Amino acid sequence: MQTAPSSFDPRDFRRALGTFATGVTIVTARAQDGTPVGITANSFNSVSLQPPMVLWSLANTARTREVFSTSSHWNVHILSNAQEQLSNRFARAGEDKFAGLALDESAFGAPLLRGCSARFECRSAFQYEGGDHTIFVGEVVAYDSCALPPLLYLTGEYALASRKAAPVSTEPQADLAGASYSEDLLGYLLGRAHFQFMHHLRPALQAYQLSDADFFVLSLLSVRSPLSQADLAAHLSYTGVHFDAALCQTMLARQLLAAAPDAAGQAGPWQISAHGRQAIAAVLALATQAEEALVARLGEIEAAALRNLLKHLILATDPGLPKLWRSPSAP
Ligand SMILES: Cc1cc2nc3c(=O)[nH]c(=O)nc-3n(C[C@H](O)[C@H](O)[C@H](O)COP(=O)(O)O)c2cc1C
Repeated sequence: MQTAPSSFDPRDFRRALGTFATGVTIVTARAQDGTPVGITANSFNSVSLQPPMVLWSLANTARTREVFSTSSHWNVHILSNAQEQLSNRFARAGEDKFAGLALDESAFGAPLLRGCSARFECRSAFQYEGGDHTIFVGEVVAYDSCALPPLLYLTGEYALASRKAAPVSTEPQADLAGASYSEDLLGYLLGRAHFQFMHHLRPALQAYQLSDADFFVLSLLSVRSPLSQADLAAHLSYTGVHFDAALCQTMLARQLLAAAPDAAGQAGPWQISAHGRQAIAAVLALATQAEEALVARLGEIEAAALRNLLKHLILATDPGLPKLWRSPSAP
């Protein structure tokens, strides 16, 4: 335990404080000449329910300090998951932070930003000295909120919230000398989640007699088409499906695939046939339904956290696959 405040290493102290997860807010006000000001702040906290009060603290060195100190009102915006760029913009000095932003009307003049998880319009009630910061306490005079997942800040990085999950199974574990599956084994969780989701697609797969290999090939071609046999094989290599001449011929014979219009000969490139398109549309319709039901059950916040973790996992385990989706700026 560090006990002599005068010798605290500031970076280490900040790092220790950063273990306290917070949301991210932008606090706005309007200068007397009408100029809007705003700052990213994670020092926000609730104070009182009756009367409704909140607080946040501002560095005494902030350029906006004078405006906040003299404003009768300010607005706190709890940023949503999609507002990381906005947070960065309001954390940088020296640019017009409001350029191009659509604002809502606020009864007391301070700018009201859009797309936030919640917004609080506050009357500035008290200001306290807090070391190198000033603590602002405000009385909430109006607020709104919506289901957008909030952005979090933890250990100096943006993060997403996820509730603690209930145990998957309550069965006692058999003692198989280290060979038993535990429910915390990532491989088990991923595999089970995958198969439980795929289970919802099986009726459409069966109706069109699609194997998992057919499904993978058609899904791939519905994102990127046409593809040569070698490209298809490269994209699918990690699934355990070998897109070889035999699989290609079978899919052609079953009229799931067709040669692209400018195909040079028997070697492709290949695209989805009309029948294949019908089959994949039926599977995707069930997948969309299953996803909607899943998101309704998890809630938007969990769903956003799940997407985020799965993206981490995909990047961390990527065997170097060719890119599937073109970046929006690519020709
Ligand atoms: C996630 C995050 C949280 C922040 N929280 C605060 C805060 O609570 N108080 C503060 O004074 N600055 C905070 N900052 C830094 C300010 O946003 C930054 O210094 C800003 O440029 C100040 O604006 P100004 O100099 O235009 O007033 C935070 C920055 C980030 C990225």
